[in-house]
Amino acid sequence: MKFKILTLFPEMIEGVLNSSILGRAVKNDRIAYETINIRDFSQDKHGSVDDYPYGGGAGMLMQPQPVFDAWKHATGNDRQVRTIYLTPQGETFNQSMAEEFAREKELVFLCGHYEGIDERVLEECVTDYVSIGDYVLTGGELPTLVMIDAIARLVDGVLHNDESAQTETFDNGLLEYPQYTRPAEWMGKEVPEVLLSGDHKKIEEWRLGMSLERTKVNRPDLYVNYLACNSEEGKERRRKNRRKREYRRNNS
Ligand code: ADE
Repeated sequence: MKFKILTLFPEMIEGVLNSSILGRAVKNDRIAYETINIRDFSQDKHGSVDDYPYGGGAGMLMQPQPVFDAWKHATGNDRQVRTIYLTPQGETFNQSMAEEFAREKELVFLCGHYEGIDERVLEECVTDYVSIGDYVLTGGELPTLVMIDAIARLVDGVLHNDESAQTETFDNGLLEYPQYTRPAEWMGKEVPEVLLSGDHKKIEEWRLGMSLERTKVNRPDLYVNYLACNSEEGKERRRKNRRKREYRRNNS
């Protein structure tokens, strides 16, 4: 999987993607990335990339030409390549979007700055508008890194066995159950008895119960959704949707 990032601040991206688990994945060729500095495509002798908004208003906007030329450089003008623009106006990122993006071979991320980017160039090159939550950040670099982290860890070979991306929060639409390691007693608090029992069936039941309880209390929205999806009608609806998606994929 290759990530191409169009940005005015490549050093922000490089610092993170060369560190920790993602850095290891880059070294082992499980993922690759390229930063493309939008400023390199400015035709202005001062290298400027922004200007005042027509109609007035606060702040500056990124101009269309440098963004478009940087995008053409990244994609070879191929409109099939998924190009993600990070914006609070986008669809809110979640685990199932991460799973969908992880199936692509290549993703392009467009990081805005100042008050945003001229709408016309967005219309030309963006395929997906994504937000990482209902708050406003200073630019698209941090949201891009959040997305790359969530996507890359789903790519084969990025996580080692002991860092498995299996049974965990959101995997089944529920929050993860509490976990414990040694010692069995710490500050007078004991690890729940069932986890020491060696009875795997009981352990699974306890974990599911804790997941349900946590989700109900902390994320009632997910809990309601889980109940709806796991009813008989919900299961049938999901089977139908899966068949529809497969049909669309095979016939597109
Ligand atoms: N750019 C600024 N704020 C953002 C957010 N919340 N999500 C995605 N991109 C952004």
